[in-house]
Amino acid sequence: MADRTAPCALAALCLLVLAAATGAEARRHPRLVPAVFVFGDSTVDVGNNNYLNITAAARANYPHYGVDLPGSAPTGRFSNGLNTADLLALGLGFRRSPPAYLSLTEKAIRSQMYKGINFASGGSGLADSTGRFMFGEVIPMSRQLEYFSGVVEHMTKLSGRKKTASLLCKSIFLISVGSNDMFEYSASPGDDYEFLGGLVDAYRSYITALYKMGARKFSVISIPPLGCLPSQRLRRLKQLGTQGCFDPLNDLSLRSYPMLAAMLHDLSRELPGMAYSLADAFAMVSFVFENPRTDAWSFTELEAACCGGGPYGAAQPCDETAPLCADRDGHLFWDANHPTQAVSVVAAQTIFAGNRSFVKPVNVRELALL
Ligand SMILES: *[C@@H]1O[C@H](CO)[C@@H](O)[C@H](O)[C@H]1NC(C)=O
Ligand SMILES: *[C@@H]1O[C@H](CO)[C@@H](O)[C@H](O)[C@H]1NC(C)=O
Repeated sequence: MADRTAPCALAALCLLVLAAATGAEARRHPRLVPAVFVFGDSTVDVGNNNYLNITAAARANYPHYGVDLPGSAPTGRFSNGLNTADLLALGLGFRRSPPAYLSLTEKAIRSQMYKGINFASGGSGLADSTGRFMFGEVIPMSRQLEYFSGVVEHMTKLSGRKKTASLLCKSIFLISVGSNDMFEYSASPGDDYEFLGGLVDAYRSYITALYKMGARKFSVISIPPLGCLPSQRLRRLKQLGTQGCFDPLNDLSLRSYPMLAAMLHDLSRELPGMAYSLADAFAMVSFVFENPRTDAWSFTELEAACCGGGPYGAAQPCDETAPLCADRDGHLFWDANHPTQAVSVVAAQTIFAGNRSFVKPVNVRELALL
């Protein structure tokens, strides 16, 4: 799905993954940007939730999570291996993915803030209340931005206003959020248009706040077809007794994309110097559903989770006692709600180097080089 003119890029990315997974030193291209800062939910969380007093469903720091990482170590990533934030950072030339903010001491923050930090929290959303009832005190976007604001203050004190501004304006701000707001809304739906409008307004306010703190380059990942997650296939099976994706949630996901695209387009006209790359996750995942086997990938199981039990592997949660599939790279879904590393490789590669069918108006490589 990535640009067919750049077939080497995927191979290169896979090598990087391998290098990261084995700890081997590979020859890497120089970093394209000074730093990557990550915000959002479980799709990009690398372990912030390990430090919170929340339910197991919003953590991933126990087996079988991380089964394909070195030593099969669970790290808090909601995957068998690396996630899209990790892989995008590798693609941008970083040796390691920006670490979880809550994993860092004051001293570590001082050295890491020049290369990037990950603030994402599984189960969180654009609304402050999202995830709180289900999981406990996850970190909503508003708090993630507060943490980042503290980091900017710190950097300004140490390096001065000018150097800080110069670093931030060249850095990539990766945001992947909104799915959990949508899950919660779909449990007790009201006026869809009002809900989606509120979602996009919140998105606008967070991007504007980041811009005011010095951010200029935004990589935004839209909401995927949530209705096709194993958990939502099970939901349909239970509610309607039929197989297939849960349509109401897919409709919402699909309708959110043009609203998000219009908001980003408008913002880029309002805010001087603001640039963005919007990844159409709905189009990306739909493309893989329609083309499960290509030169670049081969997925044989598109519906059931690799880790988990019962129908679609979605009835019994993924933990040490749950069934685990052998062919992780052939599965689209790792657990009831998250993709496998194999899918994240495809996603990251597409976000980084994909064509206009999937990333607009530019891909992240082009955004980095602006
Ligand atoms: C982008 O790539 C996909 C997959 O290779 C291809 O089907 C599609 O036609 C391409 N779109 C554009 C606008 O080049
Ligand atoms: C963790 O959360 C639970 C449930 O909300 C609460 O009962 C408990 O006191 C909390 N523990 C800590 C250490 O804050």
